[in-house]
Amino acid sequence: MPLMNRRVLLRFLLSSPIIPTQALLGCRQAEPHGPFPAAEPPDVGRAVDLITRPGDAITVFDFEPVARQKLSPAHFTYLSMGVGDELTLKANREGFSKVQLQPRRLVDVRNVDTSSQLLGTPLPVPVVLAPVGSQRAYHAQGELATARAAKRTGSLQILSMGSSASIEDVAAARNAPLWYQLYASRQWLVTRQFLKQAEAAHCPVVVVTVDIVGTPTGRERIERFRRPDNPECQPCHKSVSDTALRSMTRFANAAGLDPGLWYSQSMMIDWNMVDRLRDATSMKLVVKGVLSADDAYRCVEHGVDGIIVSTHGGRAEDHGLSAIEALPAVVSAVAGRVPVLVDSGFRRGTDVFKALALGASAVCIGRPYLWGLAAFGEEGVEVVVTLLRREFETSMRQMGAPTLRDIGSAFVHGGHAF
Ligand code: FNR
Repeated sequence: MPLMNRRVLLRFLLSSPIIPTQALLGCRQAEPHGPFPAAEPPDVGRAVDLITRPGDAITVFDFEPVARQKLSPAHFTYLSMGVGDELTLKANREGFSKVQLQPRRLVDVRNVDTSSQLLGTPLPVPVVLAPVGSQRAYHAQGELATARAAKRTGSLQILSMGSSASIEDVAAARNAPLWYQLYASRQWLVTRQFLKQAEAAHCPVVVVTVDIVGTPTGRERIERFRRPDNPECQPCHKSVSDTALRSMTRFANAAGLDPGLWYSQSMMIDWNMVDRLRDATSMKLVVKGVLSADDAYRCVEHGVDGIIVSTHGGRAEDHGLSAIEALPAVVSAVAGRVPVLVDSGFRRGTDVFKALALGASAVCIGRPYLWGLAAFGEEGVEVVVTLLRREFETSMRQMGAPTLRDIGSAFVHGGHAF
């Protein structure tokens, strides 16, 4: 057999699930009870050693220990924590194990197409970068590195109102429209300023986060670091150095408002604010943080253009349902009238597939791309998105769904039982 053909055959056999690799390579099978105790198998999907280059990552989980190593304990804690007993945080991951997939066989999946459109924004893959504030706490380039990675992968980036870079700079780095996330305040003059700022930066969509009410509470793990005498935090936190807080203060002052009062009243909003926002802007309005069918129904009645089912990554309230378990009721209440997105705990291509099978149009990720950002900056974020895209493509192929339109509830075993 010519050398080339032998190589091709060997490669095929090595990747074959039917033939054990050890047999092909002539390796001795590890003895189940040999003279040495068997090493503990690593957690599924986790690297044994820390990766030193983004390209060495096999799953998005490989970035987390590197992020932990590179960040200060306080910043890593802030990134990873939930609230209270962190039961919602855990539920978000555990929820996926309650959704079982049911594939279709003998479908031609030589070409899979993961692309779609979301409120006029093209999505090469239905994975969106969720709004996350203060990204300079994780990497010197912060939101700008995320924007460059989003540009390279064609991803939609939702920019947090708490961004540590200006909306103009991030939009320039992304070189395509961003969606803008807002925490609205009853102090309308200030809220309107933020809307104007997003409109001026040509954001087509404003995402209003409604799941943090007033000053966030229950963030106990980070509270332990927030002591005035903590030398680790003092250099950065001793003054109002955060861009967002500074610009909020500037807006408040310009509008003749007390910044302290503005801050304490921010996020204390109700349905009237949804109407007011809808009427005040030309941007499309998406509400983030919906978890019940009732609220989803009301969103549609109040004319919102999209909904994000979210537990804020387990950082809003504790003892709640996971986002993936909350999704079906919201989808059913919305009945296809507006797109439904979902986030909190998405780490795998199969997670994305499950969400789409349960009726979501796309998912957002938060911590996975922050791990990538903290570990390797722009390249880390890019590899995180690429790994999720590859895993999702594999899921589509394996499940027998060549396009997003093919993905539906038939792929989920007992999906309606939630
Ligand atoms: C967030 N999230 C968030 N959401 C928002 O609307 N505005 C914000 O400024 C922030 N900031 C923020 C900071 C950090 C450190 C985290 C981890 C999260 C919530 C975010 O948009 C998203 O809902 C979750 O991150 C999704 O969960 P996973 O993917 O992190 O599990």
